[in-house]
Amino acid sequence: MGERTIRVRVPGTSANCGPGFDSLGLACNIYNDLELTLLTEPGLQIEMLGEGAGLIPCDERNICWQAVKLLLDKAGVNEFHGARISMMNRVPLSRGLGSSATAIVAGLKAANVLIGNRYNRHELLQIANEIEGHPDNVAPAIYGGFTISTVTDGKVECFSLMPKLRLELVVAVPDFPLSTRKAREVLPDKITRQEAVFNIGRAAMLTAALVRGNERFLRTAFDDALHQPYRAKLIPGMYEVFQAAKEAGAVGANLSGAGPCLIAYVPERLCAAERVGEAMCEAFKKSGVQSEARIMSLDTRGAHILNH
Ligand code: HSE
Repeated sequence: MGERTIRVRVPGTSANCGPGFDSLGLACNIYNDLELTLLTEPGLQIEMLGEGAGLIPCDERNICWQAVKLLLDKAGVNEFHGARISMMNRVPLSRGLGSSATAIVAGLKAANVLIGNRYNRHELLQIANEIEGHPDNVAPAIYGGFTISTVTDGKVECFSLMPKLRLELVVAVPDFPLSTRKAREVLPDKITRQEAVFNIGRAAMLTAALVRGNERFLRTAFDDALHQPYRAKLIPGMYEVFQAAKEAGAVGANLSGAGPCLIAYVPERLCAAERVGEAMCEAFKKSGVQSEARIMSLDTRGAHILNH
């Protein structure tokens, strides 16, 4: 019988990185794994394990399955009528760490391998962006590292780089979810020139400082005027947590994607990640938010196959 199985691993991601709304992102060493079997007979069996199990739809609406189906349709492959999907999720769901991007990228990557790698990573990125609507999570999920993405008439260009500076990523994960849709609804349609200038300088400074490994210039580079001020009302204590992280040794902190996770960047040489995590959770607590700290580092590999 026509049955093919593949396992892929995809990193969680943190989008925006402060000033780079919908443009900058980075991959974290926290992973969701997918085992996909394409079947020639009809039928869909979906199993979700780990983070968010029970909350993720296990039918036709499943986003990983949607991605598989879209890729097969685009490639004109019509020999498969069913699938078995099993995902082991370690990336917290609806917290701003790119869980939906992992499902999309995992589905695309796995299906692509099973049909003989018809698409390269750049082409997979176009399809992933079509599904997600913005590239800043799917790009680092595919490429790993720190990514800069632009979209022109729907076409994504992405540059992935490995910073010259070793930073630990300290993420405070609050105990409540926040949908990206809700966190986008609070954003204004228009911004002032002053706000645009604030972010342009920082996005450029951040990228240059990471490329050159210059810690000093990172200190103001993670700030933002385009989305965080509007989202602050959805995340009690957000600015206090940023402040606490910096006082404990972080060079900067920001909202991870659309939140509610907050991420701080700590130079590895300071050995201060644990202290920063505790300070962030303590500051959250003062605003009545329970959270847990996770210490991560940059994933440099992106989505990859686990076996054949
Ligand atoms: N750039 C997106 C946002 C990331 O901030 O809304 C969330 O998926």
